Amino acid sequence: MSKTLFITGGAGFIGSHVVRLFVNKYPDYCIVNLDALTYAGNLANLEDIASKPNYKFEKVDITDFEALKELFAFYKPDGVVHLAAESHVDRSITDPFVFIRTNVLGTCNLLHCAKELWKDNYTDKRFYHVSTDEVYGALEFDGTFFTEETKYDPHSPYSASKASSDHFVRAFHDTYGLPVVVSNCSNNYGSHHFPEKLIPLAINNIKNNKPIPIYGKGENVRDWLFVEDHAAAIDIIFHKGKDGQTYNIGGNNEWRNIDLIRLLCNIMDKKLGRTEGESQQLITFVTDRAGHDLRYAIDSSKLQNELGWTPSLQFEEGLEKTVDWYLANEEWVRNVTSGEYQKYYELQYSK
Ligand code: NAD
Ligand code: DAU
Repeated sequence: MSKTLFITGGAGFIGSHVVRLFVNKYPDYCIVNLDALTYAGNLANLEDIASKPNYKFEKVDITDFEALKELFAFYKPDGVVHLAAESHVDRSITDPFVFIRTNVLGTCNLLHCAKELWKDNYTDKRFYHVSTDEVYGALEFDGTFFTEETKYDPHSPYSASKASSDHFVRAFHDTYGLPVVVSNCSNNYGSHHFPEKLIPLAINNIKNNKPIPIYGKGENVRDWLFVEDHAAAIDIIFHKGKDGQTYNIGGNNEWRNIDLIRLLCNIMDKKLGRTEGESQQLITFVTDRAGHDLRYAIDSSKLQNELGWTPSLQFEEGLEKTVDWYLANEEWVRNVTSGEYQKYYELQYSK
């Protein structure tokens, strides 16, 4: 094997797409997926590559420093692609502390282990931290975008914890010379997305004729990117990005929540053989999210111009692909919503 890479959070939504891409594209890399299998982690996301010779799984909580130290000593990874995180804003409002533990302390544990392993020779080593556009705060409806220079202004406990972890990553670069790279991405959508987030939640509710909860008036805007385009960007940045640099990743694809849900309802009407407009009747306006950021929009020109990445899919096409995946994978949805898969992992991995 030419390289050993740790990918953290590889059993989650984006992480599973990154693991799949790296395992298939780089058969000479040993890819080790480090994941605690929280409610959001699901090894069924990786069934298609689980038996490949260059893939390994380690069940580990990144807040467990001693366990991480052992894994770094055993595998001696050349690189870390760090995605493991608590990722849902609404959960961070209910319980901020788990976000601080995983997103801040967990990231610091990984940084420290990488620094200790690599400190005598940083050549060809890389710590890649996957972050979010939410650290930049919120935009008005004024046509501006988040750039890599936008001042951090996080509003939710989730985005504050991600901002904090970003600062630690840069501090390890500036203080110890750790070779790091950071990317800040906009909202992802696609297959294997946990159905607590807007798009998969709405698909599931529409299918089951349940209300689609829209926070506030549905006027908040998000910039949506197909998850496989994010994974492709991570691949390019990991291999070609410059040490100490930040790259913004986005779809240049802004949608008001209400317009997105109306489009999704129309797609679902066609797929489910319903009359046009039927699913839209499920739209239900509910109390707004506390501190709800108005608008996110990413300027990804640095990544496009310097490293040659571009998003591959139009939104309508990506959304239709996503709907098709959810309709064809009802058992996956049933399992993750019932929690049955968690019981299976508890049995399989209990010590
Ligand atoms: P997710 O919630 O689907 O998956 C998170 C994964 O991390 C799960 O497999 C979970 O088991 C694992 N994990 C959580 N806590 C852990 C711990 N203490 N130790 C080890 N593993 C742990 O998240 P996602 O949506 O795939 O996001 C992945 C990363 O990308 C996160 O860092 C997130 O901040 C970032 N991000 C997400 C989006 C998005 O739209 N989802 C956009 C930009 C950036
Ligand atoms: O911008 C990147 C971020 O995108 C990531 O860092 C986060 O990990 C990811 O969860 C996502 O955060 P959001 O809060 O934007 O995603 P969510 O799917 O939770 O919500 C999208 C929008 O839809 C947001 O404006 C809130 C709204 N919403 C969400 C839910 C779950 C609703 O109106 N109703 C809902 O039921």
